[in-house]
Amino acid sequence: MDIDAIVKGRRSIRKYQPQEVSRQILEDILATALWAPSGSNRQDWEVIAVRGEKRDQLVAIVEGAKHHIQPNLEKLFPEKIIQLSMQFFKDLGGAPAVLLVYIPCKESQCETAQDKRGRFRPDVQHFDRLLSAAALIQNLLLTAHAHGLGTCWMVGPKYVEEKINDLFGMTDKELVSIIPIGYPDQTPPAPPRKEGVIRWEGF
Ligand SMILES: Cc1cc2nc3c(=O)[nH]c(=O)nc-3n(C[C@H](O)[C@H](O)[C@H](O)COP(=O)(O)O)c2cc1C
Repeated sequence: MDIDAIVKGRRSIRKYQPQEVSRQILEDILATALWAPSGSNRQDWEVIAVRGEKRDQLVAIVEGAKHHIQPNLEKLFPEKIIQLSMQFFKDLGGAPAVLLVYIPCKESQCETAQDKRGRFRPDVQHFDRLLSAAALIQNLLLTAHAHGLGTCWMVGPKYVEEKINDLFGMTDKELVSIIPIGYPDQTPPAPPRKEGVIRWEGF
C-alpha cells in the first residue's frame, strides 16, 4: 500500500473479530510507531499493551464513561449514531487488545523538578508531550492499518481516567488516549472531510 492509500483507507473501527492479535505483530507495529517525532526528541511517552483479564477489567471501567459522553453526543448526532457509540463504549467492539498511551503529568500536578535549562514553561512542555503522543498515536493507527488491523483512537475514556490509572498502577502519568486494536469486523464508510481549511499565500 502506498502512503496515500494507507492514510485515506484507515477508518475508526468499532467492531472487531474475536481473533487474537499476536504479541509479535503488536511489537512490530509499536517498533514502527515509536519512530514518531517528539519535542526535543524527549520520547517521554509510555505505551501499555493489554489483553486477557486486564483487558476485560479495562473494558468494564470504560463502560463507566458512557453516561458522561452521551449528553455531549446528543447535541451532535442522531439517535442511531448515539446508540452505536454507546454500544462501543460498553464492549470496545470486542477488540481483543487495547493500547494505552501515557505521558508524564503536568509539573504542577506531580513533578517537582524544574527544567534546569529553563527552556520550557511547564505548560509548554506539557503541550509538547501531548503533541508528541498524538504523533505516536497516528503512526500507530496507520501502521496497524498497513498490517490489516483496525483501531479506534479514543479520548472518551478520560472521564474514567482515575480508575484506569489505578488498574495499571499509574501514579505519575497522564492518560492521553486508549486504542482498541484487532482484526476489523466492519468496513465503515469514510466520513467526509471538510473543504476550505487551507489558506494559500503567495501561490
Ligand atoms: C483526539 C481524538 C479523540 C477521539 N475519541 C474518540 C472516542 O472517544 N470514541 C470514538 O468512538 N471515537 C473517537 N475518535 C475517532 C473519531 O470519531 C474519528 O476519527 C472521526 O469520526 C473520523 O473517522 P475516521 O477515523 O474513520 O476517519 C477520536 C479521534 C480523535 C483524533
